[in-house]
Amino acid sequence: MIKVSGLYKAINGQDILQDINLEVEDGEILVILGQSGAGKSVLLQHLMGLRKPDKGNVVISGVDITNLSERDLLRVRKNIGYLFQEGALYDFMDVYENLAFPLEEHTDLNEGQISQRIKNVLQTVGLEGVEGKYPVELSGGMRKRVALARAVILNSKILFCDEPTSGLDPIRSRDISDLIRNLSKQLQCTTVVTSHDVANSFRIADRLALIHEGRLIAVGIQGEIASSKDPFVRQFFKN
Ligand SMILES: Nc1ncnc2c1ncn2[C@@H]1O[C@H](COP(=O)(O)OP(=O)(O)O)[C@@H](O)[C@H]1O
Ligand SMILES: [Mg+2]
Repeated sequence: MIKVSGLYKAINGQDILQDINLEVEDGEILVILGQSGAGKSVLLQHLMGLRKPDKGNVVISGVDITNLSERDLLRVRKNIGYLFQEGALYDFMDVYENLAFPLEEHTDLNEGQISQRIKNVLQTVGLEGVEGKYPVELSGGMRKRVALARAVILNSKILFCDEPTSGLDPIRSRDISDLIRNLSKQLQCTTVVTSHDVANSFRIADRLALIHEGRLIAVGIQGEIASSKDPFVRQFFKN
């Protein structure tokens, strides 16, 4: 389980996150929706311990990560798969090398096992035979798939995806959304996705949260959140 309690964060004297309280159950997919600049990425950075809150705390699988040393944080992060907004593959490595990297870093698998694992994980994200391609040779949708493959290659039970549909056309956005949901359920991951894309968030989520100017203003399942009386929430879901 992931639990955020009373979290506040100011950056350069500006309040960015205010009184964030949030729980994500084991195996659940929570989508955090919000406009650009609302605080989604900064919140995800707190969930990974990449930023320290001014107040409040973050508990991941029973461990309060708020005051962990950098070394203990690395151990926690090893168990978190993370899909960066820009995909963030290494441009100078081909797909195989991009995927082998975390395995070489964090496991003692031999070369044969690594190559088998890479083949399997590529199959899981619907790609085949792209091992020798460099990121620039792939379409945006394929790059996202490879990045997603890399995020789950260590069999992490926690998956974070920051704006997985940004920069993709509507069809690719739907595909990657369905893939994230299927993959998350198949691997039984506790998953947090951020997005500004309402329709695809409904496809992915078990539960949704809406963040506005650094505050969570609605949390619930689709029916609950879409029938909110709050004017901003109504406006957000109407567009
Ligand atoms: N490193 C930083 N320095 C200053 N301000 C930042 C920094 N990172 C984020 N912010 C500010 O925090 C707010 C939330 O940003 P962010 O979480 O990236 O929004 P989004 O919801 O689009 O992901 C924005 O106003 C942004 O300008
Ligand atoms: Mg962001």
